[in-house]
Amino acid sequence: MAHGVSLQILSPGQIGSVTTRNRVIRSATSETMADERGFITERYRDFHLRLARNHVGLIFTGHCSVHRSGRYIRGMVELSSDAHIPLLRDFTASIHAEGARIFAELNTQAARAASQT
Ligand SMILES: Cc1cc2nc3c(=O)[nH]c(=O)nc-3n(C[C@H](O)[C@H](O)[C@H](O)COP(=O)(O)O)c2cc1C
Repeated sequence: MAHGVSLQILSPGQIGSVTTRNRVIRSATSETMADERGFITERYRDFHLRLARNHVGLIFTGHCSVHRSGRYIRGMVELSSDAHIPLLRDFTASIHAEGARIFAELNTQAARAASQT
């Protein structure tokens, strides 16, 4: 409620089974903040935590490659092995603790791979 007017953008949203505290969404934007092995860094974490702390309801990450060959830019996050999971799990929990939700944008260079076979 602001000046007696209900602002729909500030009301909870629903995407499938996911409820968001409002309808403010940060679109996927390549962060280029991962290390050379695709692990997220403190900088990456702090960047997203700032969004969560500033009331964004849902964050879409930038491209996260599901295979090493899918990296097309320096600093791209990878979700290409089990080794990447613990940091990402902790990171996700810290975003949830701030009241925001987060979706990982999974990316593959399949079209490029197909053209090379
Ligand atoms: C610097 C930059 C990086 C972006 N990185 C991604 C990305 O990783 N994944 C993606 O799906 N879209 C990416 N986008 C597209 C944005 O998510 C968004 O769709 C685009 O900026 C249009 O949004 P607008 O209509 O609000 O301007 C990127 C855009 C910019 C400007």
